[in-house]
Amino acid sequence: MRILGIESSCDETAIALLKGEGERLLVESSLVLSQVQIHAEFGGVVPEVAARQHLKAIFPLLRSKVPVNGAGIDAIAVTQGPGLAPALRTGVEVAKTLAWSWKKPLLGVSHMEGHIYASWLQDSMEDGGRRTESEDTSSTSDLRTPHFPVLCLVVSGGHTELVLMKGHGEYERLGETLDDAAGEAFDKTAKMLGLSYPGGPAIQELAKGGDAKAFDFPRGLLNRPDLNFSFSGLKTSVLYTLRKQENWLNDPVFRANIAASLQEAIVDVLVRKTMRAVKQIKPASLMVVGGVSANLALRERLASAAAEHHLHFALPPLKYSLDNAAMIAAAGYFRAQSEVNFVDPLMLAADPNLDIFV
Ligand code: KG4
Ligand code: ZN
Repeated sequence: MRILGIESSCDETAIALLKGEGERLLVESSLVLSQVQIHAEFGGVVPEVAARQHLKAIFPLLRSKVPVNGAGIDAIAVTQGPGLAPALRTGVEVAKTLAWSWKKPLLGVSHMEGHIYASWLQDSMEDGGRRTESEDTSSTSDLRTPHFPVLCLVVSGGHTELVLMKGHGEYERLGETLDDAAGEAFDKTAKMLGLSYPGGPAIQELAKGGDAKAFDFPRGLLNRPDLNFSFSGLKTSVLYTLRKQENWLNDPVFRANIAASLQEAIVDVLVRKTMRAVKQIKPASLMVVGGVSANLALRERLASAAAEHHLHFALPPLKYSLDNAAMIAAAGYFRAQSEVNFVDPLMLAADPNLDIFV
């Protein structure tokens, strides 16, 4: 089955073609056009600007990879939510129009479920380049494919959640942030430091030369036994630390120490709460997904914590950790196994608050 995926929930316009066979998913093409440069001057994503850029970008992207009559495509999966309403609507309306005119099944997919399914993705030779067919498939993918039940740490710009995935499409939320998301903590504190948007990669880069023990930033809710998170205290704590230091803007060592200590505080609390959930739930696999899972310190710390507990660790290839449409097609592929998930192309509506983890 070949699925066309469309993603436009935030500031990336993305399309992908994905071939699914059983549990094996091959990305035939995945194009992502980022608007980061455009939003950087506003210090964050402006929804109406995002929507306009999606409209500009989506048809050239489609034209470059997708036959104009939809030949060879078995279904269309589009991000229905959560996300920015005007941005989501662009992708949803395009997907509806294509499904209606091509007479193909349509699936509305949760962006967060897409992040989870990024862990199932493999590149085809077209995108992956030099791998041979024999190298590509069974051995490496079996090592990486998650085993149920999977404990998922979902960390993005708007979400921080611990979700138990019991099977395809079966989720239970175990904990979530009570205020800011982990990505938001990176983005907001990066802004205070005068770093570029998005803040996560900028903090990671600056942290390289810093001392992670220089400042003891708060670990929200760590002493509470539940699996919820809180990151809003970090902003205030960073702000007070900056206020106490004269001329910090021109002090590279101080700035690097702030970035390293901040990253440490976020990673530490994410890893410790996740491992608390591991002890309670005893999952077969552990996985970290969403934009913040691109953070190397987080990836490494979770991988070694999982190894200590002899727990299978699965995570998406780095390029599929960030927003893309291959992950949306992947979630759509598993949903397409049951026809009840097909939606009437004239009825699908973008839902900025879509929540499928209950
Ligand atoms: O999943 P994503 O691309 O978009 C949403 O669905 O929100 O996540 C974006 C978030 C941003 O907050 C960004 O700062 C963060 O992921 N991020 C990172 C890194 N790369 C992206 N955070 C920490 N370290 C990174 N390397
Ligand atoms: Zn995302």
